[in-house]
Amino acid sequence: MNNTAIEDVNICETKVRSAIRRLTLVNFRNYKYLRLNLKAPFIVLSGENGSGKTNVLEAVSFLSQGRGLRNAKLSEVKTFDFLAQKQPVPVFINNNGWAVSAQIEKMGEEFSIGTAVESVVKETGYNEMKEVERRNVQINEQKLASQNELGQYISIIWLTPSMDRLFQSGPQQRRSFLDRIVYAFDTDHARRLSAYDNLYRQWLQILKSGNINTSWLNALEEQMSGIGVAIAAARREQVQKLNLFIEQNPDDIFPEALLSLDGTIEKMLDEKPAVYVEDYYRESLFNQRRSVLFNENNSGFNKTDLCVVYKKKNVPAGLCSTGEQKSLLLSIILAQAKSLICSRGIPPIMLLDEVAAHLDDIKKNALLSKLYELHLQAWLTTTNLFEFLEVKKNAQFFEVKDNTVNELIIR
Ligand SMILES: Nc1ncnc2c1ncn2[C@@H]1O[C@H](COP(=O)(O)OP(=O)(O)OP(=O)(O)O)[C@@H](O)[C@H]1O
Ligand SMILES: [Mg+2]
Repeated sequence: MNNTAIEDVNICETKVRSAIRRLTLVNFRNYKYLRLNLKAPFIVLSGENGSGKTNVLEAVSFLSQGRGLRNAKLSEVKTFDFLAQKQPVPVFINNNGWAVSAQIEKMGEEFSIGTAVESVVKETGYNEMKEVERRNVQINEQKLASQNELGQYISIIWLTPSMDRLFQSGPQQRRSFLDRIVYAFDTDHARRLSAYDNLYRQWLQILKSGNINTSWLNALEEQMSGIGVAIAAARREQVQKLNLFIEQNPDDIFPEALLSLDGTIEKMLDEKPAVYVEDYYRESLFNQRRSVLFNENNSGFNKTDLCVVYKKKNVPAGLCSTGEQKSLLLSIILAQAKSLICSRGIPPIMLLDEVAAHLDDIKKNALLSKLYELHLQAWLTTTNLFEFLEVKKNAQFFEVKDNTVNELIIR
């Protein structure tokens, strides 16, 4: 293990190429109001179980596209009333909902990202309008047309304890994990996914309404097949790129992972041109109408799974030990971060929740060195701050307690 790089260098703000410099939360889970000023590459949050460490990471994760690291419903994030107390409220914020804002430094330039919930009237299905809550997103106080545009400004990678079971859980979780990797590189991927979801919901609704409008269904199937194939192609391309990157940049500590996709459309794309696959996709949707109408079990082909193998041992990740699975995940996200730096020049922000659990000291310290060498900002949570004392010269330590977060001075 090489720790000297970390030990010898004092906090050096310019070394980190992309970082959050100030974070503000309002009405966010257990925080009525919280502001953190940040300057170090490592941000360590320590506190007892239930003190609110993951909540801070979740708030940061809302600076990127999607439903945050807990995949939460927008309504469950707002501070529950029992915690309500008078606190200062900053300007940007909508008093009724929750909001997160951050000052970001990226390659020497500063900008702000703000996000808050708002109610809008939306077309939720065929001929149906509904009032829904959605996340409004601002860059430098200018509203973006969609949160899918956030990928152009920031990329955030996270690893949480619930992901320790990623290889045991269902394909949907692994697909989401992969999709986040894809849209870190291909910002259009997020837009395609939400467009597909929207079309699919309309398609289902028409079928279930009993009021079948065939030309509308045909039009939806036409669009879904185009977007569905583009989604599969992007996933397939990303898996190939990541495998190549991992093979060409083997890690000395974390095991080499081999990724593949188990999905009809992705497999078909190996052999057939995209136009042929789109026709197949459209026909399959047409054939699926029947199963939706008659509530039959619908195997579907949009259920692609991400398969991961511990390459050296040739063992599927699901059969690896807990520590090995965690190491494989770390290996994948480190490769993702490095490859992002190679392709875009800008490091992601890493949110590592309880990352030291299941890692031996060698792996934990190696991870810290690797993160440091990537010139990125890493957020670490722990119930025992001693776990991260190795990086104290490059870290800010915060104590999370009583619904607030205070900086600790560690000598
Ligand atoms: N919407 C909400 N309003 C108020 N409090 C909330 C809300 N959602 C969750 N909480 C509270 O936040 C706390 C959990 O915070 P969090 O998960 O961040 O803790 P943690 O420090 O990460 O704990 P652990 O070490 O167990 O992972 C719980 O006490 C929970 O009741
Ligand atoms: Mg937690």
